[in-house]
Amino acid sequence: MAFVVKKNIRGKDYFYLNENKRVDGKVRTKTIAYLGKIKKEAEKKASEILKSRERKIDKIVLVKDKKTDHKKGTMEKKNISIEELTTFCKRKGFVYPSGEIYGGFAGFWDFGPLGVELKNNIKKLWWQFHVLSREDIVGIDGSIITNPKVWEASGHVSSFVDVAVVCKKCGNKTKIDKYEVGKALCEKCNGELESKGEFNPMFATSVGPISEESIKAYLRPETAQLIFANFKSVYDNLRLKLPCGIAQIGKAFRNEIAPRDFLFRSREFEQMEIEYFINPNEEKCPYKIPNVETFIYSEEIQKKNLEPIKMRIKDAFEKGIIKKEWHAYWLATELLWFKSLGANLENFRIRQHSKEELSHYSSDTWDLEYKFPFGWKELEGIADRGNFDLFQHEKASKKDLKVFDENSKERILPSVICEPSLGVERAFLVFMFDSYFYDTGRENIVLKIHPKLAPIKAAIFPIVKINKDIVRISHEIYANLKKEFNVIYDSGGSVGRRYARNDEIGTPFCITIDEEGLKKKDVTIRDRDTKKQIRVKISELKNILAKLIEKEIKFEAAGEIFE
Ligand code: GAP
Repeated sequence: MAFVVKKNIRGKDYFYLNENKRVDGKVRTKTIAYLGKIKKEAEKKASEILKSRERKIDKIVLVKDKKTDHKKGTMEKKNISIEELTTFCKRKGFVYPSGEIYGGFAGFWDFGPLGVELKNNIKKLWWQFHVLSREDIVGIDGSIITNPKVWEASGHVSSFVDVAVVCKKCGNKTKIDKYEVGKALCEKCNGELESKGEFNPMFATSVGPISEESIKAYLRPETAQLIFANFKSVYDNLRLKLPCGIAQIGKAFRNEIAPRDFLFRSREFEQMEIEYFINPNEEKCPYKIPNVETFIYSEEIQKKNLEPIKMRIKDAFEKGIIKKEWHAYWLATELLWFKSLGANLENFRIRQHSKEELSHYSSDTWDLEYKFPFGWKELEGIADRGNFDLFQHEKASKKDLKVFDENSKERILPSVICEPSLGVERAFLVFMFDSYFYDTGRENIVLKIHPKLAPIKAAIFPIVKINKDIVRISHEIYANLKKEFNVIYDSGGSVGRRYARNDEIGTPFCITIDEEGLKKKDVTIRDRDTKKQIRVKISELKNILAKLIEKEIKFEAAGEIFE
């Protein structure tokens, strides 16, 4: 059946001649022609077209294209479960269970086309903030498998152990720390836990093809040790001066007894870590503690069974709640990184480890915790490792790892005053949860993710597919922007459907090329979060888009606004 459709695009009516055809048992709608903006003329034109094709007009019905109507509605924050996020990530091409066609593999995940972009953006922005923009931190990229003596010296072979437990009531399998044996109850049903013994979560492998000569080695359980093992070379080669840091992003592997909660606890994951070295006799932090407020959950507050207190990190240091200035500095800096990328700090708190809970290498650890749908959990650990690691490696390797400190003019073994250690996948979850909104007008999900993190920066739409000039210009704009940004060309379905599709995957800007733009050599940009639109010159588009992504200019100020 042929029929006329009226589409209302940004307040203006456009008429099209469409027809429905049955293909493989399904009804498909195809646009035959664009009919202009005036109803009477459109109907006349439609009759002529069909006549010229020697086709009878079945019926001319005016159909209002609901999807393109700019429906009013509100943008509401939607709190979803980890299962819902898992389904969403799979449906939209963010993350798939690894080897899914064979039933998946517990604790392993594959990142799809959108997931890999988001993950790469997280890593790139972390590196930019922590390494490239600072004078005191440099980076390395160590190997995943290294000399196993590294893991003997670091204490991982002997002390990196968890206790496997099974709940006597509900059968839930999990792991607990050694100090929790006899104290912890099942997190699911509060049932009694039965210990199944200690286990070391390092994945072992053998290096060398001939079995008699092969060496037992490990997939690294943390990236940190490669920084310690290379510390002296990096310090001397780069002529570093204390205080200074060495950063690394890379894969880590742990044979978790109970991988769970999607990416939260997996067996293969990535870490973004810094070892920050100081002269142990000079603990003064030369940097200002960033002005960030959060919920503080010290060991004392936990012991007294009190609620975390909201205060500035700087004040927590001045009140002696956070003992060391460097620790306060790094906690605030890490929160600031999350905040700068749009995370909601109301969902964060910092929690101090109790004495019993501390890892074998740490004298004080504070975790950045996030309110996941399954409870408050560790997002990032920030430990004071002292000189434990360099001391251990110096002893085991019999190499002098001391360095010259320019300030004190002495050779010293530096201390790691702080080790901010963040899992890429946990950061991924935080950004997904915090940006998950629902548009009640369009009735679809809007991923309000920071444009710098967004997998796709802009979608380019020709407003009509059948106007050759519009299509040609749209392709040219797409090809030009693609050189610099990850953009897509989207011509499938109505404009409303295209907006909805892009809102759902977090594309911050939709660029539309219409007839008016052909004449004026401009395009419209639509903002995902406010649905506002501006017109900008094609010649300025690249520059404006770059500024919008960086949030260097306000959307309304970037072009001529119109309803
Ligand atoms: N070098 C210190 C270290 O590895 P950690 O607390 O064991 O400390 C640091 O790990 C961070 O690595 C955690 O805060 C978390 O973000 C991430 N992480 C640890 N185990 C993980 C797992 N099984 N799956 C996903 N991320 C994990």
